Amino acid sequence: MRKRKYNIAVVGATGAVGQEMVRVLESRHFPVNQLMPLASKRSVGKRVRFKGKRLIVRELTKDSFAGIDIALFSAGGGISKKFAPIATKAGAVVIDNSSTFRMDKTVPLVVPEINAVDVKKHRGIIANPNCTTIVTLMALYPLHRAFGVKRIFASTYQAVSGSGAMGIVELEQQVKALARGRKVKMNVYPYQIAFNALPHVDVFLENGYTKEEMKMENEGRKIMHHPRFQASTTCVRIPVCRAHSIAVNAEFTKPVTVTAARRVLKKAPGLDLLDDVSKNIYPLALDIAEKDNCAVGRIRKDTAMKNGLSFWVVGDQILKGAALNAVQIAEVLAGIKPQ
Ligand code: A2P
Repeated sequence: MRKRKYNIAVVGATGAVGQEMVRVLESRHFPVNQLMPLASKRSVGKRVRFKGKRLIVRELTKDSFAGIDIALFSAGGGISKKFAPIATKAGAVVIDNSSTFRMDKTVPLVVPEINAVDVKKHRGIIANPNCTTIVTLMALYPLHRAFGVKRIFASTYQAVSGSGAMGIVELEQQVKALARGRKVKMNVYPYQIAFNALPHVDVFLENGYTKEEMKMENEGRKIMHHPRFQASTTCVRIPVCRAHSIAVNAEFTKPVTVTAARRVLKKAPGLDLLDDVSKNIYPLALDIAEKDNCAVGRIRKDTAMKNGLSFWVVGDQILKGAALNAVQIAEVLAGIKPQ
């Protein structure tokens, strides 16, 4: 029997995540019939490499989705809000990387290693979760299955590429300006990001947390099917180009030991255990950048709570935190076995 091939649109194909979506479709040999790279008017005529060809970027319009089977969106919330319903009306299934539909009860929010079964419930749109939430859950969920998580306290160390391609440009320009003794320019961030740490990711809410910080609890509950899960998170932007790191203190209902936790994490899909402090082995953003798997280390009994565990988890937020997770959702849709 010939395998089915899919017509795929990538909305935001010139962006940090969109470019990676195209690369991941190719590297994982997703059965693509036609690939349609879409972006704004500004990018029309630019080319995107796919399987040895240079495909022309087209402007996203309401007519872009005729004949498209799966549309991967990563062009910001406004574009998703306007164009995802147009794409589904044209018959495409949308996998959306923005936060627009994530908490919509009719939209599955999926990390394939955790809740691939939810994909089946889709009504045209499937949401890709927040990058920091995905990376954290890659280690937390297996522990939750074994020991039942009650709550976590987490601090994040987030790379500038999480703000899109312009985040990297801003960091590089500031580093160069400072090296030449010049003043830095700020466009993406409210303060200098070079040689700094900004406790401010996304917009502030009434409760003093940012929207990004609340995603950990809200999206975590939905993905893990755990409505009582609690998360108190501080999100920090740091001058790292790629890969987010998260320090997690987790409290479980069942007693937990480091040995038992390591045994669980060693078997977890999509996760590497890098945990031997006697040899200074722990995950580093620089090493995990451009890797598919997330990595966990610094696993220790938490000294401040009962049944508590502290750990450090790192993941490439453009890959597992966005593009790879989206393509994995497409694989679930297409009935392709996990790689
Ligand atoms: P463009 O490059 O033409 O501006 P990033 O998150 O890295 O900044 O990327 C955002 C992506 O979203 C880019 O591919 C960008 O295309 C795309 N995008 C932004 N605004 C629009 C728009 N109005 N229509 C279509 N694509 C858009």
